[in-house]
Amino acid sequence: MIAPTMESTIGAMLTAGKGIVAADESLPTIKKRFADINVPSTEESRRDYREMLFTTPDLNEAISGVILFDETLRQRTKDGVLMPEVLAKQGITVGIKVDKGAVALAQFTGEKVTQGLDGLRERLKEYRELGACFTKWRAVITIGEHIPTRTCIEANAEALAMFAALSQEAGLVPMVEPEVLMDGNHSIGRCEEVTMVTLNGVFAALFEHRVVLEQLLLKTGMVLSGKDCSQQADVPEVAEATVRCLLRSVPAAVPGIVFLSGGQGDEAATQRLNAICRASDVPWKLSFSFGRALQAPALKIWKGSQGNIAAAQAALRHRAQCNGLAVEGKYSEQMESAQIGNIRR
Ligand code: 13P
Repeated sequence: MIAPTMESTIGAMLTAGKGIVAADESLPTIKKRFADINVPSTEESRRDYREMLFTTPDLNEAISGVILFDETLRQRTKDGVLMPEVLAKQGITVGIKVDKGAVALAQFTGEKVTQGLDGLRERLKEYRELGACFTKWRAVITIGEHIPTRTCIEANAEALAMFAALSQEAGLVPMVEPEVLMDGNHSIGRCEEVTMVTLNGVFAALFEHRVVLEQLLLKTGMVLSGKDCSQQADVPEVAEATVRCLLRSVPAAVPGIVFLSGGQGDEAATQRLNAICRASDVPWKLSFSFGRALQAPALKIWKGSQGNIAAAQAALRHRAQCNGLAVEGKYSEQMESAQIGNIRR
């Protein structure tokens, strides 16, 4: 198979009315998610869960790409088909999380830096051979009393830029993800300020590292009130702050921005996405790349049982379709009560 160009990968990923499933939970994260439903995390249970997700009928109606974890890229379904093939057969673009997680930043209490650059060039070559077309690297920025510091933002921006440059060298589209966490009691204004400073730092580093802006995707959080803030911004405020912040910090040459869900409720994430995507006059395509806000209802129904697969898949399809409509600004709350999985038909 001839590998697609970065431009064609981006075009496919940004297909109108579609978005991306982040199913790239690391081993500790998936263990936590499975603990919530009392399922032990084993190679087999992880295979079963992700096979359930990826074989959802008509998933490709609202999903253009899936981000996998290293293990899944090499895993086969019960019937022996490689997971990337299951997705590629549906026209879904395969991506891979390539960072090795965030660790404490030495001397900077409460802050983290993402690792995984050592040996990355070799891993990328292998990932491409295994069918990946895009890569993801997540940096974590925490808001607190005296944080984030410039040192933390710069260390993470530098790593993101090196990751992005290596990905483009390998012909893989980098999804650059600096996530400003929702945790804390900060105001939406503080989130906007930190997101702007973070994005400025990231784009400065991308420039220094000669990363081609036209060949990457930005994955970012929405601008939100902190989870524990007593005054929660409503949907129009979130949309306004998010669009303003992005217009002030993301160059127009970037082809697309996709949002993470970051621990928001499923329906809240969809409502906010819908309001953001209604913004006209933005130079980039906007879409979603949700993990929890797409998977949570399906995970809860699945519970590790074969008998629950169809219902869990219907729940995933429903969320995917609601978010797909939100990308076009056509979502309404009434759709939540529509018969699951039948919104588009
Ligand atoms: P959430 O949507 O659950 O935040 O996950 C998205 C993601 O890929 C985080 O790296």
